[in-house]
Amino acid sequence: MPDRYDLPPGFRWGVATAAYQIEGAVGEDGRGPSVWDTFTARPGAIRDGHTGAVACDHYHRWPEDIALLQGLGVDGYRFSIAWPRIQPTGAGTVNPAGLAFYDRLVDALLDAGITPLPTLFHWDLPQALEDNGGWLDRDTAHRFADYATVMADRLGDRVPAWITLNEPFVHTVFGYALGIHAPGRTLMFDALPAAHHQLLAHGLAASILHDRGLDVLISNNLTPVGPASPSPADTAAAKAYDALHNRLFTDPLLLGRYPDLTALGVPDDIFGAVRPGDLDLIAGTPLDGLGVNYYNPTRIGAPTDPALPFTLLDIPEAPAHTAFGWPVVPEGLRQLLLDLRQSYGSSLPPITITENGCSVTEETAPDHPRITFLATHLDALAQAAAEGIDIRGYYTWSLLDNFEWAEGYHQRFGLVHVDFATQQRTPRASYAWYRDLIAAHRSCRVK
Ligand code: FCB
Repeated sequence: MPDRYDLPPGFRWGVATAAYQIEGAVGEDGRGPSVWDTFTARPGAIRDGHTGAVACDHYHRWPEDIALLQGLGVDGYRFSIAWPRIQPTGAGTVNPAGLAFYDRLVDALLDAGITPLPTLFHWDLPQALEDNGGWLDRDTAHRFADYATVMADRLGDRVPAWITLNEPFVHTVFGYALGIHAPGRTLMFDALPAAHHQLLAHGLAASILHDRGLDVLISNNLTPVGPASPSPADTAAAKAYDALHNRLFTDPLLLGRYPDLTALGVPDDIFGAVRPGDLDLIAGTPLDGLGVNYYNPTRIGAPTDPALPFTLLDIPEAPAHTAFGWPVVPEGLRQLLLDLRQSYGSSLPPITITENGCSVTEETAPDHPRITFLATHLDALAQAAAEGIDIRGYYTWSLLDNFEWAEGYHQRFGLVHVDFATQQRTPRASYAWYRDLIAAHRSCRVK
């Protein structure tokens, strides 16, 4: 049975973070407010009222964090650029101090022998754009294209590959449908134009990046969906959920069309959002890689709530659950990749796992659950590679404990523990484990 040491030669090892979750310094050097600054100020929105105002103070402590990356020996570092640092109102005037921050970061990464892999949008939309409708407004896609142009022109000489968007599914559903994340809208299925406009933004930015000779990826949160039973009702519900969570975000990119959303009560033109030519734009620039963020599979049953055509269920027999309560099913990663090949065949681009990891609640907890999580998921990945899936790299979530959105600082995903009172960073056992794995894989030392 192939395992993690059998991942292909040249496989790229990395870690991932996101701007609002680590940077802090939200009011410094001309950064404009983002939807997350506004949302975290809303009473009751975030557990214990936590905010990203300071987070890991990475904006000031980045040299120390790059040293941690260097200590791990990673090939690549996935981070995100805070759009409101670059364009404080999301349009027009560019803030030189914001550009300078990412310039320094990129140069220091390159000096450390680490390839930067930036994400242009990891959910921190400039508040001024949200005030005009945010992702519900088509114009936001054009503003994103302008921002992508600014970034590509500034960093494209040193940054070979770019991720346009992080998890448009989660941003649409948590941010615009359910109101669990910023901007806190509760539109249910009426939120779906936000998905289309993000995909349009991807398409516009992808062609700008490609024109400059840069590689383009997008990071989707994908999950293998299984029905609770083989009954027609459970199977139909699982199909509807799969269309919403996965296919809504991969079919347009890889096949140039939307999946059938009628079970969700959503018309083909997504409530008038889809205009002629949009799908050609979205699929027009072939992806150089599909970024897959995998955390767990999803079990779906027939509807029980009149507002939803499916019911989300737990997977109680999973061997473990993370602190978040997410079932730990490494085989789900292999399954997901085989399903993607089944659905998209030769249209499936090479895969990079751009997030995968596990949270613990207490800093005192031993780190064995995280090591087991990473080891078993990497074994599953190696099995998928042995079955012919083209997998290029793996970026674990996350380098540091950080601001975990609605959960505040309660979910700790870091290879490195952060004491948020002192900003002391302490590598966990998983940090040493990952470092040793990378070194062993690179030197082709086997088992
Ligand atoms: C993903 C997000 C990432 C992080 C992990 C745990 O959905 O992209 O920012 O919060 O979950």
